[in-house]
Amino acid sequence: MKAVVWHDVGEISVDEVPQPEIKHPADAIVRITTSAICGTDLHFIRGTMAGMKPGTILGHEAVGVISELGPQVRNFGAGDRVVIPSTIGCGSCAYCRAGYYAQCDAANPNGRDAGTSFYGGPQTTGPFDGLQAEYARVPFAHTNLVPIPPGVSDEQAVMASDIFPTAWFGARLAEVGPGDVVAVLGAGPVGQLAALSARIQGAGRVLIIDGNADRLEAARRQNAETVNFNAEDPVAAVKALTSGIGADRVIDAVGVDAQRPSDGPAAAQAAEQAETFGAEQQQVAPRTNARGAQWVPGDAPSQALRWATELVAKAGTIGIIGVYPPQAESFPIGAAMNRNLTIKLGNCNHRKYAPGLLSRIAAGTADPAAVISQQEQIPGVIEAYEAFDRREPGWTKVTLEVSG
Ligand SMILES: NC(=O)c1ccc[n+]([C@@H]2O[C@H](COP(=O)([O-])OP(=O)(O)OC[C@H]3O[C@@H](n4cnc5c(N)ncnc54)[C@H](O)[C@@H]3O)[C@@H](O)[C@H]2O)c1
Ligand SMILES: [Zn+2]
Ligand SMILES: [Zn+2]
Repeated sequence: MKAVVWHDVGEISVDEVPQPEIKHPADAIVRITTSAICGTDLHFIRGTMAGMKPGTILGHEAVGVISELGPQVRNFGAGDRVVIPSTIGCGSCAYCRAGYYAQCDAANPNGRDAGTSFYGGPQTTGPFDGLQAEYARVPFAHTNLVPIPPGVSDEQAVMASDIFPTAWFGARLAEVGPGDVVAVLGAGPVGQLAALSARIQGAGRVLIIDGNADRLEAARRQNAETVNFNAEDPVAAVKALTSGIGADRVIDAVGVDAQRPSDGPAAAQAAEQAETFGAEQQQVAPRTNARGAQWVPGDAPSQALRWATELVAKAGTIGIIGVYPPQAESFPIGAAMNRNLTIKLGNCNHRKYAPGLLSRIAAGTADPAAVISQQEQIPGVIEAYEAFDRREPGWTKVTLEVSG
């Protein structure tokens, strides 16, 4: 079968690889119909999330049709249309039973303290082969598959695999409630769905901050108030828009590949911190393989976190869903402590939120497919990866039609 394979930092290709087989009685094999490219995949190729095993199939967002089931999977049949949530839980341990699928005690072959298991990630997450492929093996399939309600398209359903649950989780972490002024850092696909989730969860106002005018414009069309950090100081702008108080709730939807402003009034201050940011870069991405404008790591790993602690109101809450690798150690703890902030963070428990979000999509009360900007196919996937990595205008979220 054809699959997108990670070979090295800066090196991915479409390869012919063996089809997966049932290895355990609770496995399922899914024929992937639609997959997607995610900002998380970029961290592995830029080198800001190290430890990938060469030969690992990339991708952790997909929907498909069940082609084969092990004898311990009793709640699905061959031919069922399903979403595959990104993280893998066993469904039986105390963590899964409490909805903490991302901290499952049994799914990670590296042991219960190794952290979250997910498809297409570093060695420490399994590794499990990913979902940008014609077929995939799903462990503990009784738990790690979710039926797709009638009337929900592949494009809508694949958003329930990772980014809509993650965005929803981000708003929950940030404790969004009725009337809150919410600031979302990052207007990528996750940030845009975090803005949507915050609004559904009761936010009074949603402000969104990015340096990419094109993505901000897409967010504004969904009614978010936009702040371009390359045109104004985002902390001053959020304060000015909120009577000097700041945002009650802040969601970091940027992560380790954060950039510092290249223009505008905030650029000078960020330039003064260049040395600090440079040291952070060394820490999070010891090995990179940028070629020109391609696969360039963010130049200010803690920038979004620093802004989050400054533009949040006193005693406010920050929810961090942007990904940081285990080596990342920079966080403005003193500023947070002295402003009585609440900070919550983590990998999404996708399986907890996917069924409810699919019901909302089926009912027509939320359409996450609005963030999709391109529908590509496997033969064009590497070019699509490259354009998405360079944040080319108009490239926000790419889905992959794998098979009909
Ligand atoms: N916690 C989880 O379970 C989970 C799941 C999925 C994705 N994620 C993470 O969410 C993050 C966003 O994903 P995405 O697919 O939208 O990625 P993306 O790369 O498409 O979007 C990131 C956006 O942040 C913007 N940005 C860069 N520096 C910034 C700064 N200093 N302030 C504000 N914005 C800045 C970029 O211009 C870009 O638009 C990634 O880190 C991804 O790994 C986490
Ligand atoms: Zn993803
Ligand atoms: Zn478990």
